[in-house]
Amino acid sequence: MGRYDLALIGFGGVNRALAELISQSGERLAKELGFALRVVAITDLRAGSLVDTDGIDLAPLLAAEPGELSFADLAGGSADPRNEWVIREVPADIVVEATFTNPTDGEPALSHVRWALESGKHVCTTNKGPVALAGRALKQLAAERGVSFEFEGSVLSGTPILRTAERMFGGLEITGVQGIMNGTSNYILGRLEEGIELSAAIAEAQKLGYAEADPTADIEGHDVQLKVMILANEVLGADLRREDVFCEGISAITPHEVQDAASKGLRWKLVGSATRYEDGSIDARVAPLALPAQHPLAGISGPVNAVVFHTDLLGTVTVSGPGAGRIETAYALLSDIIAIHQRHADDDTAPTRPVLQETHRV
Ligand code: HSE
Repeated sequence: MGRYDLALIGFGGVNRALAELISQSGERLAKELGFALRVVAITDLRAGSLVDTDGIDLAPLLAAEPGELSFADLAGGSADPRNEWVIREVPADIVVEATFTNPTDGEPALSHVRWALESGKHVCTTNKGPVALAGRALKQLAAERGVSFEFEGSVLSGTPILRTAERMFGGLEITGVQGIMNGTSNYILGRLEEGIELSAAIAEAQKLGYAEADPTADIEGHDVQLKVMILANEVLGADLRREDVFCEGISAITPHEVQDAASKGLRWKLVGSATRYEDGSIDARVAPLALPAQHPLAGISGPVNAVVFHTDLLGTVTVSGPGAGRIETAYALLSDIIAIHQRHADDDTAPTRPVLQETHRV
């Protein structure tokens, strides 16, 4: 059985949940998947960095309160995140990028991904920014270096929307996608329907961990805008920039409006869509829509997400599941690692190490 050594970049909710999964269920997963996982480096803006190429003991780190974690006094630790050095120099097989992203330029996540690919390491990320803004260039770089760039968690967290489209729709022509792709705004619209004011509903969504650090991205549709770009680029072969995607959020919608629509059998939803026309042009947008009850997205409630694929041979196909949450997003990373294994297990250059082989220290 082989093993993949991981460098976790960012140790917030998502990578911490992945570390918990490895720590608590690693043996079961290894039996099922046919490979083991070991964490050899962790970096975090607040905690610093920690490197042990013999494998980091995760249990004590996971026992500490997230806000109190500091790597500075541990062997192999530093108060400095040393992201570039860790990504480029620590001999990991896969860089697992789950920091944060600026929706304007994709940083710092974009640089993390680029450094890793340049160093010949596979990358999986949950960050939308690098994928939406530079996905084509990063995939090209990955291909040149013979490694994989995986990003299932960038859209609908662990619900396998991108891989479903890539692997399950062979022979189908997809003409459009339409989705509820932001759990926070969908949860909030549901609460408005129950008469709760916008500010109180936002606070609830933050407490429940659905909202982005700055919930403006959820409420004003910018989060969905990036996801529409990713879906359109991946599924429809588009090459959209942010300014190509019209974007309107839900901040102007009142509880009265939502309740009034519900009394007429309509449900307000924040819908992201991309449609390819016969001349090849693509219309992509994010906007609130009052959907009739029979629409496949009308019954999607709470933080749940769904995407409707419009196809030539099957008509509409809807995939629904969680679109946010630390464990759900950590699963997306695991699914990316499985995809990397499936793609490279037979390579001559497969980075899989025999479990018992010792690796060198940095
Ligand atoms: N804040 C996002 C949501 C999380 O509410 O769906 C994933 O992008």
